[in-house]
Amino acid sequence: MTSHLSFPFRVVDTTAAYLPLPTGLGHKRYGQGVLSGYFFVLGQHGSGPVSPGPGNEAPAEGGTSQRPRTRASAAGANAKGADVAAITYLLSVFLVLEPETAPGFAVISGAAVHRALEGRHTEVLNVIEAAYRLHGDGDTVNPPSYFLEFPDRPSARIIALPASVGGKVRTDGIKWISSFPENVTAGIPRASAVLILNDHDTGYPLACLEGSIISAARTAASAALAADRLCADRPRPARIGFVGGGLIARFIHSYLAGTGWLIEELGVYDISEAHAAGFAGYLGTAGTGGPAAATVTVHRSAADLIRASDLVVFATVAAVPHVTDRDLFRHNPVVLHISLRDLAPAVILGAVNVVDDVDHCLRARTSLELAEHEVGNRSFVDGTLYDVLTGRLRPPADRPVVFSPFGLGVLDIALGRYVYDVVRATGQLTIVDQFFHEMRRYG
Ligand SMILES: NC(=O)c1ccc[n+]([C@@H]2O[C@H](COP(=O)([O-])OP(=O)(O)OC[C@H]3O[C@@H](n4cnc5c(N)ncnc54)[C@H](O)[C@@H]3O)[C@@H](O)[C@H]2O)c1
Repeated sequence: MTSHLSFPFRVVDTTAAYLPLPTGLGHKRYGQGVLSGYFFVLGQHGSGPVSPGPGNEAPAEGGTSQRPRTRASAAGANAKGADVAAITYLLSVFLVLEPETAPGFAVISGAAVHRALEGRHTEVLNVIEAAYRLHGDGDTVNPPSYFLEFPDRPSARIIALPASVGGKVRTDGIKWISSFPENVTAGIPRASAVLILNDHDTGYPLACLEGSIISAARTAASAALAADRLCADRPRPARIGFVGGGLIARFIHSYLAGTGWLIEELGVYDISEAHAAGFAGYLGTAGTGGPAAATVTVHRSAADLIRASDLVVFATVAAVPHVTDRDLFRHNPVVLHISLRDLAPAVILGAVNVVDDVDHCLRARTSLELAEHEVGNRSFVDGTLYDVLTGRLRPPADRPVVFSPFGLGVLDIALGRYVYDVVRATGQLTIVDQFFHEMRRYG
């Protein structure tokens, strides 16, 4: 499905305000609103757009045709000109009233998203790295997330993440993601989401995708990418510990395993023994696609897990810091602080801090925002993942390194667009016919 028209006609005017019909077809003036777009004439005059504005009546450069390029509003046209005007009129009515073909509106289910991403860990990592690079290059728009919170359900929230991605992605959109932590007691995932993609040229929503898998996959790919680059100047950790054993932890493990991490020891700590056991059971199965040989240890505390791990992943739903002792990090692990609010300011201030976006990360009561309030400045933030990707920041091996990604909407849009393209390429895009009912401006 494309949003561009391709016709054997060339543009001759962008400014005509009305179109007189030739004799025989009546004379009717169309208001500027109807005919303020491009007029087209048959393409024997050559191809390619003509600059808008006065002077377009002149023959095309190098043109040999004697057929006049006639401004449609020209008065006193001769018979031949009238013919051309008639054709022009018909084309104009056809073209101007529907100047762009809005893409069909597709709905992509979670099952289809899952199929599109299954086994594509490396490709997804590449999509995410490219999105980070576009963001760092300034070729994105990523306003602050909007948090919808509820006085009657204080633990719940729904977050809107609008974003626009440039480069080859050229897609806008928004993720609308709910977090209802109480869901897990009912056995259903905490988070649910939809992702809307908008067409770059028309603005039309072109797809609604199930968003929770895309969100989890982009988060995990971002974590795996960061782990890889932050460990570039140190031995790759083989002892990996997860604080919080929910869906995001499972995805991060999957992306580490799926992108070549050889894990010898896996640690798990969860405030809920049942969740810790469930996650450990999952890690112990060969079906994880990961290291069947890795030993899995369920730790009795986050402190024990941190001491025993060289790569520590925080994926809890803690609202306030619960790890306060910076001495736990004396062995200089790399920490993926995905849940953003686990570490006390003392831990943050004792580490090399890498974020995805400084302004995003130092808000919404994250550990970094608490640290900023404590010291009154942001100098403890050493740089962004973009800085690491581009070699401007080389995280040292002799200090703890903490990566705190706020989770940028641009990642969702980039990965959502990837999924859309994969599904479309397989011919399995489910278009909702006539989703947009009014496709002519005046009906
Ligand atoms: N930064 C990002 O880009 C990003 C993206 C997606 C999700 N997240 C965050 O990741 C976190 C995990 O999401 P999820 O979907 O896996 O949630 P989940 O509810 O499935 O799992 C969270 C787990 O953490 C455990 N837990 C809660 N408090 C704990 C504590 N103090 N110590 C140890 N374990 C604790 C819970 O028992 C639960 O098993 C959430 O905070 C979410 O907001 C971040």
